[in-house]
Amino acid sequence: MAEKLKKGLFITFEGPEGSGKSTHSKRLREELVSGGYEVVHTAEPGGTALGARIRDILLEKKEIRLDKYAELFLFEADRAQHVEEMIRPALEEGKIVLCDRFNTATFAYQGYGLGMDMQLVKSMDRAATGGLTPDLTILLDVDVETGLERAGAHHSGDRMEKRSREFHEKVRDGYLTIARENPERITVISVNEDIEETYSALKDRIYGFIEGCKGTK
Ligand code: TMP
Repeated sequence: MAEKLKKGLFITFEGPEGSGKSTHSKRLREELVSGGYEVVHTAEPGGTALGARIRDILLEKKEIRLDKYAELFLFEADRAQHVEEMIRPALEEGKIVLCDRFNTATFAYQGYGLGMDMQLVKSMDRAATGGLTPDLTILLDVDVETGLERAGAHHSGDRMEKRSREFHEKVRDGYLTIARENPERITVISVNEDIEETYSALKDRIYGFIEGCKGTK
């Protein structure tokens, strides 16, 4: 039996490098679909055809030198297209949208990591999203050394992973600061050695949230 929500739900997954968010979100997608929910699973950067090309520019290993404003505008261009073409229509159809990274990543990486003016970053982001904010964000927290090691084990290091350890520490601290400022929206889950424990904490939070929304959404 299909589980119908009156309005869509927008759930995002965030975290420093190597937090394992996409593994968990893909698994959760399968479970929600088996439970009868209509789910769209997507990711930034790269959720649309335009986004895939932007992702290549942003993350390719062969260095095109990118100015920090160019970097910020490319992430926001990817997001504008993604919201308009994919996320908003799915939410309007009452679907659950699971998205690996969204604007909290820009605040953490370009705002805190690169030290860009947060007011500017936020106003660019408002233009790109039209003010769309996730209903729930899961922040998978992992210490920088473990995360970079795990990410490096899967591939050989993209533009972001090659940045300094100090950059990645600022990103992680930035994420945790944003989470403290938005306790209703953001749930922090520490990445445990035991992947099943991490998954079960994340799943409990998300199912609890979906159940809680059934009366109101
Ligand atoms: P990932 O999808 O494999 O995690 O890679 C995306 C990379 O891009 C990751 O290093 C985080 C970074 N990123 C930003 O710096 N700003 C953003 O707004 C987004 C969405 C991602």
